Amino acid sequence: MDFIFDTHAHYNDKAFNEDRTALLDSFSESGILGVINCGTDIESSKKSIKLSEQYDFIYSAVGFHPEDISKANENYLSEIEELSHHKKCVAIGEIGLDYYWTKDNKEEQKRIFTEQIILANKLNLPVIIHSRDAHNDTLEILKKHKPKGVLHCFSGSVEIAKEVLKLGMYIGLGGAVTFKNARIPLEVAEFLPLDRLLLETDCPYMSPVPFRGKRNQSTYISHVAEKIAEVKNLTKEEVLTTANKNALRLFNIKNSNE
Ligand code: NI
Repeated sequence: MDFIFDTHAHYNDKAFNEDRTALLDSFSESGILGVINCGTDIESSKKSIKLSEQYDFIYSAVGFHPEDISKANENYLSEIEELSHHKKCVAIGEIGLDYYWTKDNKEEQKRIFTEQIILANKLNLPVIIHSRDAHNDTLEILKKHKPKGVLHCFSGSVEIAKEVLKLGMYIGLGGAVTFKNARIPLEVAEFLPLDRLLLETDCPYMSPVPFRGKRNQSTYISHVAEKIAEVKNLTKEEVLTTANKNALRLFNIKNSNE
């Protein structure tokens, strides 16, 4: 059995409505050490916290995703702050910039991203960052505000990864490293120092091969770890063990198994 810490999941998603309880119940028997369930707006952040109250191994992150910022009202930041005080909340996320889906509101995206980073710094919490087609603006903001955290589902080049590492941040890799056309993610995986790697699903999305196109789940991270191990010339266990330790360190989680 593989021991796995999934640093990015959305088990509140409707894709899990039919069998959420059965699936999450099964994880305690299938090696899932921890899951961070990420919010994308107030409602999903509340659902993340609820899940973290129901399952010992689930932790929550609360925040506004760039695609959902139209729902952020003038009190959104204090609502996020309020939710973040929950004892199972370990991060502000997922937050960031996405110029792939929406690029007509860049200034608004940058403002809300920056405000949430400043909040995370004030609360001494890490951030979980979504950055798509926006690496330059993301880096500029990160260099200015220097949060601790992770670039999740990292889609940048080795050059961008180097900049992220200089900031002391982590890089999250998932199903994309197993895809047939995965040249750049694999270059990043090969280059990335093991002590900065986090593993993630982003479920229900981003299923690794051989489940590509199907609904993703935390146990499938085995296939991601195997691919990363292959390019780094390590064992799958070495990759998993180190990535799990990294997750506990970044999110300041005490491992009850140690
Ligand atoms: Ni996500």
